Amino acid sequence: MPKDANDKTGPNHVAIIMDGNGRWATQRGRPRLFGHHAGARRVREIVRACPDEGVKYLTIFAFSTENWKRTQTEVAGLMALFRRYIEREAKALFDEGVRVRFIGDRMKLDDKLVSLMDNLELYTSGNDKVHLTIALNYGGRDEVTRAAQRLAFEVEKGTLTHKDVDAETLSKFLDTHVLPDPDLVIRTSGEARISNFLLWQSAYAEYEFVDTLWPDFSAAEFASVLSNYGGRERRFGAVLA
Ligand code: IPE
Ligand code: IPE
Ligand code: MG
Repeated sequence: MPKDANDKTGPNHVAIIMDGNGRWATQRGRPRLFGHHAGARRVREIVRACPDEGVKYLTIFAFSTENWKRTQTEVAGLMALFRRYIEREAKALFDEGVRVRFIGDRMKLDDKLVSLMDNLELYTSGNDKVHLTIALNYGGRDEVTRAAQRLAFEVEKGTLTHKDVDAETLSKFLDTHVLPDPDLVIRTSGEARISNFLLWQSAYAEYEFVDTLWPDFSAAEFASVLSNYGGRERRFGAVLA
């Protein structure tokens, strides 16, 4: 449900398209993976900043369904980075009260990574301070397509009829079914596009595009982007008095 249109408080759910790792590395004459490692270090800082900023839900885009088109070296390096990240960060995330979830299609990911993801979700499932959702092999179109497939299956089985298919029912079949919609979507690196991120959920989100490359995006800049959001008037299609 949309919040009160006059609500000018900070965003409850922030989603971030963490872009620019490759360019950051190239500018330094280093391989792209060097940028991904630097980017991963920023994640901790931004997650830590959330409680002070009043951000309860943080959703970050780590790997898209289109990112498989990159070289085998980069893809394999990213997958190794995700495994290492989970192994190294699990304890700190748990201790800081972070509940971690993953969205995206796990079918294409290797078993070792999927089991680390499952374990981290379970391990942190009692936490409630910050809800961190990591989009890994995630694509908005892919998510809606998978939801539609599962809905069609329910209709085939006779548990639902076509008349049950409305926006609310479809939302329940999305990977994000337990999450509120994002209030603010931030994209770093100067690109002003969504690149298939949270297409359905961001229908009424505010957008902030910043030029900073993700490995340079600090907690201070995060706070300044959030303060900018506080001044916006969200209308949700209505005319305000
Ligand atoms: C974002 O940085 C991280 C991933 C997509 C995994 P990029 O790797 O897209 O960096 P640029 O856009 O090439 O600089
Ligand atoms: C979006 O960035 C995906 C992630 C940040 C994981 P990309 O760099 O893949 O998007 P495009 O190719 O610029 O649209
Ligand atoms: Mg990019």
